[in-house]
Amino acid sequence: MAIKYVVTSGKGGVGKTTLTANIGLKLAESGKRVAVVDGDLGLNNLDVLTGVENKSVFDLSDVVSGKCRAKQALVESPLNKNLFVLPSAHTLTSPEISGQGIKSAINSIEGLFDYVFIDCPAGIDLGFHRAVSCADRAIVVVTPTITSVRDADKVISILKSYALSGIEVIVNRIRGDLVLSGKSLSETDIENTLKVEVLGVIPDDDALSSITFGSFLGDSGKAIKSVTLKIMGKNSRPYDYLKKYTGFWGSIRKELKRRL
Ligand SMILES: Nc1ncnc2c1ncn2[C@@H]1O[C@H](COP(=O)(O)OP(=O)(O)OP(=O)(O)O)[C@@H](O)[C@H]1O
Ligand SMILES: [Mg+2]
Repeated sequence: MAIKYVVTSGKGGVGKTTLTANIGLKLAESGKRVAVVDGDLGLNNLDVLTGVENKSVFDLSDVVSGKCRAKQALVESPLNKNLFVLPSAHTLTSPEISGQGIKSAINSIEGLFDYVFIDCPAGIDLGFHRAVSCADRAIVVVTPTITSVRDADKVISILKSYALSGIEVIVNRIRGDLVLSGKSLSETDIENTLKVEVLGVIPDDDALSSITFGSFLGDSGKAIKSVTLKIMGKNSRPYDYLKKYTGFWGSIRKELKRRL
């Protein structure tokens, strides 16, 4: 049976979909069978990041309405044969899609996978509760800003009312130069504030925000790899986002970034 993660945040635009796609892909590359479920009904874009846009015949609303089985709606990603996508409904609002319907759909495919990741919509409305009710564990994505941390704190308190077996945080878009100059929160500041374990730290990386999709080898690739090792229960040191900005060359890099 798969371990089912919901990837959530509270504040929008912090990188949930980007991380869901990239963590899913890295796990698939490690030989794990992974399904990523687009829980962001209407404003979906997980299909684009996993390369299955326009490849889906059925979506989650077809499964819930009984037009097809969940297995038939799964689309294999061209990025890796172990990565499958369950696309969300393409209609804008789908209140008729119940949490129970999505839960049954996910439960019917979980035997085929090692991991299922459910990409959550922003906010704490119906879509959030629908996605969380399907999961065993939660990953809360947070960026190192006060607003994001405050929203994550609210989300974590709501998540605690669910019977989840774990809640972890990923700090996304961290900048080592800003942390060293005291202009940004560090992952330790965030961990101490939220009192939830940090699963990983992902640097702010132009490669991740580019329109190309696929597996990244650079800094963000290393950081995502470290997260996936931890998810697989292996020992892994978190990505050292400060290393680049320490020592002789690091100081020059930091100064150049400051002048930009
Ligand atoms: N580590 C990163 N470095 C640089 N850009 C990033 C990083 N993570 C995400 N982004 C960019 O931030 C933007 C928002 O990312 P994404 O759509 O994944 O956020 P989201 O939390 O899913 O948003 P929403 O709440 O609207 O669903 C995208 O343009 C993405 O490419
Ligand atoms: Mg998203």
